[in-house]
Amino acid sequence: EEGERTERIEAALEELGDDVVILGHNYQRREIVEHADFVGDSYQLSKEAANADAEYVIFGGVTFMAESADIITDDDQTVILPSMEASCPMAGMAEALQVDSAWAEITAAAPDEEIIPITYMNSYADLKAFCASQGGLVCTSSNAHRAFEYAFDRGDKVLFLPDKHLGENTAHRLGMQDRIAEWDPWDPDGKDAEEVAESDIILWDGYCQVHERFREDHIEDVREDHPDAKVVVHPECRREVVEAADVVGSTSTICETIETADPGDTWAIGTEIHLTNHLQRWHPDVEVLPLCGDACMDCNAMRQIDPNYLTWVLEELVEGRERNVIEVAPEEKDLAELALDRMLEI
Ligand code: 13P
Ligand code: SF4
Repeated sequence: EEGERTERIEAALEELGDDVVILGHNYQRREIVEHADFVGDSYQLSKEAANADAEYVIFGGVTFMAESADIITDDDQTVILPSMEASCPMAGMAEALQVDSAWAEITAAAPDEEIIPITYMNSYADLKAFCASQGGLVCTSSNAHRAFEYAFDRGDKVLFLPDKHLGENTAHRLGMQDRIAEWDPWDPDGKDAEEVAESDIILWDGYCQVHERFREDHIEDVREDHPDAKVVVHPECRREVVEAADVVGSTSTICETIETADPGDTWAIGTEIHLTNHLQRWHPDVEVLPLCGDACMDCNAMRQIDPNYLTWVLEELVEGRERNVIEVAPEEKDLAELALDRMLEI
């Protein structure tokens, strides 16, 4: 069946020619990655979207990535997400309305200081627009440290959303770990605005439910079973996991780490399982292990992009029908673009 599906995808792509480009995130299924014109991390995909000439950008990824592609591409280009179910839970953890009310409280508690909001790419367009409106910007896991530097050049404090772990890991990277406070919008007994406003880095209490499940003892176990193994993890992992690893970085850093490993080296990978499986396939000379062998770290949102849906959206395009178009509301687009442009410039 896979063979037949591949033939149908190839036939549709042949028919559509240069009208279509397929972008695939590193966490996509093998059958999607194999058909992608470009595979990469969130930052690289946003750059590819900005440079794409095709009329249709088919996005193998999650909603927030497709939204960013729509913001960055020209108005006459159309972004298609093969499944509308592909939504990153972390992006849903900081809703613009909720952030608005937190912002009002926190800024009122620090009236003489300038707070710059930074949102991780894993957020929706309305939150990106909000950040731009307050002098802030977007970042990905590959440039969060530069976004912090941008913000501290212009203001006194940072509100970082939604991923507390990436925020904490970035603060450590910059030697600012003693200046962190966590804002938990769901905990009535949590710190109040006056308390968090005393710190310079205020972290929203969001997290990735895939990466949060990696634990320090997974690293201890892998080192015990494979004494020569090195460990590379994504900065969405908890602080103690990042501290115990040898290398930390975005999905493209993880790819580069394995690409540049010597034959026979052993690397355990602390990220989404599809990327670990790709790396095993792409680099058979390197021993690539999932950091947590028994608990599958599978991102349900990324997995929604089923190759059957890819076939469907392509065949529909051949028939002249646009399915699953991702279109950011015009009133959010300009400001969200400003937040993304600030990132692309740093
Ligand atoms: P990267 O930017 O490192 O590709 O990460 C995106 C993501 O969603 C990680 O969970
Ligand atoms: Fe979101 Fe985590 Fe999936 Fe990345 S791995 S898309 S952060 S749920």
